[in-house]
Amino acid sequence: MRGRTAAELAMDIERRVADHELVPGYRLPPVRTLAADLDLAPNTVAAAYRLLGERGITVGRGRRGTFVADRPPVMISPDPVVREGLRNLSSGNPDPNLLPDLTSALRDSEGPVVLYGDRSVDENLADQGARLLAADGVSADHLTVVSGGLDGMERVLQAHVRRGDRVAIEDPTYPPVIDLVGALGLTAVPMALDDEGPELVSMQAALESGVSAAIVTPRAQNPLGSAISAARAIELRSILARFPDVLVIEDDHAAAISGATLHSIASDRERWATIRSAAKTYGPDVRLALLAGDSTTVRRVEGRQHLGPGWVSHVLQRLVARMMSDPEIDHEVSLAADRYESRRRAMLDALTEWGFEAHAASGLNVWVPVPDEPAVVLAMEERGFAIRAGGRFRIRSAPGVRLTVAALDDGEADGVARALHGAISEPRPGTRTG
Ligand SMILES: Cc1ncc(COP(=O)(O)O)c(C=O)c1O
Repeated sequence: MRGRTAAELAMDIERRVADHELVPGYRLPPVRTLAADLDLAPNTVAAAYRLLGERGITVGRGRRGTFVADRPPVMISPDPVVREGLRNLSSGNPDPNLLPDLTSALRDSEGPVVLYGDRSVDENLADQGARLLAADGVSADHLTVVSGGLDGMERVLQAHVRRGDRVAIEDPTYPPVIDLVGALGLTAVPMALDDEGPELVSMQAALESGVSAAIVTPRAQNPLGSAISAARAIELRSILARFPDVLVIEDDHAAAISGATLHSIASDRERWATIRSAAKTYGPDVRLALLAGDSTTVRRVEGRQHLGPGWVSHVLQRLVARMMSDPEIDHEVSLAADRYESRRRAMLDALTEWGFEAHAASGLNVWVPVPDEPAVVLAMEERGFAIRAGGRFRIRSAPGVRLTVAALDDGEADGVARALHGAISEPRPGTRTG
């Protein structure tokens, strides 16, 4: 490591992290040791470590030292490589065969040339979006368009929260949410979940601990599959009503294909956003999400977006507006939702037959509690299946594995459940454990 100033040293360490030379979990040398090695004042090294911590590249663990963060925001960590030949139930992706064919919608989505200074939101998309959101009970008086669910979450958080704030997130949750919260210098406060959404006691405790925002997935929760029920939504809203300043962000990432009705707990609060992504319904490459919220939030998001990408390309906005207004595509989307539902059901039934207590109230995945995640993932590989260990999804919640069932074949569920049963009761095929 090198550098004559704190900024130079921090830059050097950041570069080494970005180049995968220093990997997540790596313990940086103690301040005094590095200071002696580089002939620097200990204060300079301490200041460099502070800079890295503020950028989310490292985390301090008290007396144990300073470590490279699990997902530093300068390192792209690809998803685990799935060995060739394995049946891949690990991706979290929608089934490509159930995504609408974009060809004709692309042909029909021509429009006028868009120049700087034009409206940032396509009028048809705003109309279609407002119609869909209103039908789901979400106010769409203030609406904008962002580049996907995660982009929307980041922009809304940045509109309101400050480094060091506490943010309630679901536990388990979609790993980028944990990483985003860390990268923004926020402290995650985990909320426990069941099949009907965040547990009341847990949401209340998070709110009482002084969070300034809460992020919830109203349906197709990833990985647990929870969908906030009508009854739970009423109770959650009434708890939230006692904390009017808390920003509530709703990540409606799977919307029309989730297999559950939206019961919004965010709409019409003082500070709120419901973000409805197109990714699961029309395809992850359709990087667009509608973002409804209170006027301050929406204006701040638009204002800040204006200083960066400016707006989401109208080519993409027109394409989505076209798809949203096409009855044939609508029909394909509802057929896809039915297929996802029957695949989820088939997997749940098979797992129940094999004695598992699994979760998949909605969405594309099934979550199965297991005692030892890595051992089960490995044992499943030996049986020909790639599944995802729950570790990356969890903070305090119990271990489990996630099986993506979006593209499950007819009649496949029983074989998967049988393999999982074997993977737990007999981790190495052909051997018996005591
Ligand atoms: C819960 C959840 N939120 C958000 C996303 C990402 O949405 P987008 O692609 O619109 O950013 C995903 C993707 O799998 C997800 O599972």
